[in-house]
Amino acid sequence: MEITNVMEYEKIAKEKLPKMVYDYYASGAEDQWTLQENRNAFSRILFRPRILIDVSKIDVSTTVLGFNISMPIMIAPTAMQKMAHPDGELATARATSAAGTIMTLSSWATCSVEEVASTGPGIRFFQLYVYKDRNVVRQLVKRAEEAGFKAIALTVDTPRLGRRESDIKNRFALPRGLTLKNFEGLDLGKIVKTDDSGLASYVAGQVDQSLSWKDIKWLQSITSLPILVKGVITAEDARVAVEYGAAGIIVSNHGARQLDYVPATIMALEEVVKAVEGRIPVFLDGGVRRGTDVFKALALGASGVFVGRPSLFSLAADGEAGVRKMLQMLRDEFELTMALSGCCSLREISRNHIKTDWDTPHYLPAKL
Ligand code: FNR
Repeated sequence: MEITNVMEYEKIAKEKLPKMVYDYYASGAEDQWTLQENRNAFSRILFRPRILIDVSKIDVSTTVLGFNISMPIMIAPTAMQKMAHPDGELATARATSAAGTIMTLSSWATCSVEEVASTGPGIRFFQLYVYKDRNVVRQLVKRAEEAGFKAIALTVDTPRLGRRESDIKNRFALPRGLTLKNFEGLDLGKIVKTDDSGLASYVAGQVDQSLSWKDIKWLQSITSLPILVKGVITAEDARVAVEYGAAGIIVSNHGARQLDYVPATIMALEEVVKAVEGRIPVFLDGGVRRGTDVFKALALGASGVFVGRPSLFSLAADGEAGVRKMLQMLRDEFELTMALSGCCSLREISRNHIKTDWDTPHYLPAKL
């Protein structure tokens, strides 16, 4: 079957992958309300396209933290990519740099920061989970820095792992032969079978639940890399993030895998953007599957978006070529959306190019 949109990769991935792996990638927390809402909310935003504008030349390139990239579409950190394909994160890294954009490598990758760096040049960010043992964190951040990673995406929504019921039922564990490569030498690389989700048990044992704002200062004291705070969804936290010197915010609900019944990220975006008042860039992830979604996020004030599951499912379906094609399709759709809305550069995308159903005063979320 010819693939003509990003969502079609999920069906192929589902057929190819063991159930435990597919379920781990696809699931959200508990009732998965937010998981559906991350997608549904995009469909409640409509366009107000402008016509008779010369769109013969369209520039989708942009700058993120001072780095020039080909498009405002980047790769979110997703753990354990070798479960999807034997090349794992190496394939994602190659495909992403071929597309001229940024990959964020998960702390829990099945390839190390050094292995990913060895795939060749590319702008890469490193996603950080803060472990109870701060020496582990110190070493890891230093290794990422030395391997040429350009920013730290600090995940702040995971003091404990969200309740993903299929992982509990499947007794999720890392398949034999795979490890969390960054932690291998530290003897923290294994996720073993327990009578729960193995990952939930691992997080309970290792991740620092006491992490708080002051630790951003601590992190700044051990690295000179810019810090993106990943997992902010309120204006209040956005303001604090600015105060603590975050270089940027990623509006994220962790792909709806943590707290269920938080709003779709696209609905939380605007309040964060308003609170930040242009002081730092705001990015979004969660449910981005179409070029139209990218445009909607930019119209609501995002400086760029990240995709999570699309990279895993395209990787599972067709390795590096799959991830390349996934990124190309999103880029093509985004460029087309710009043309049909009358925008030639990202600067021209404005709030007036869309209308949301929460713009109307009597709006209530449909499924509450
Ligand atoms: C994630 N995400 C994630 N985030 C993070 O900070 N560190 C991680 O290791 C992971 N791992 C991970 C695994 C899987 C299987 C998924 C689906 C997600 C969250 C990820 O970075 C991002 O926030 C979401 O995936 C974005 O939503 P979409 O694009 O998947 O809808």
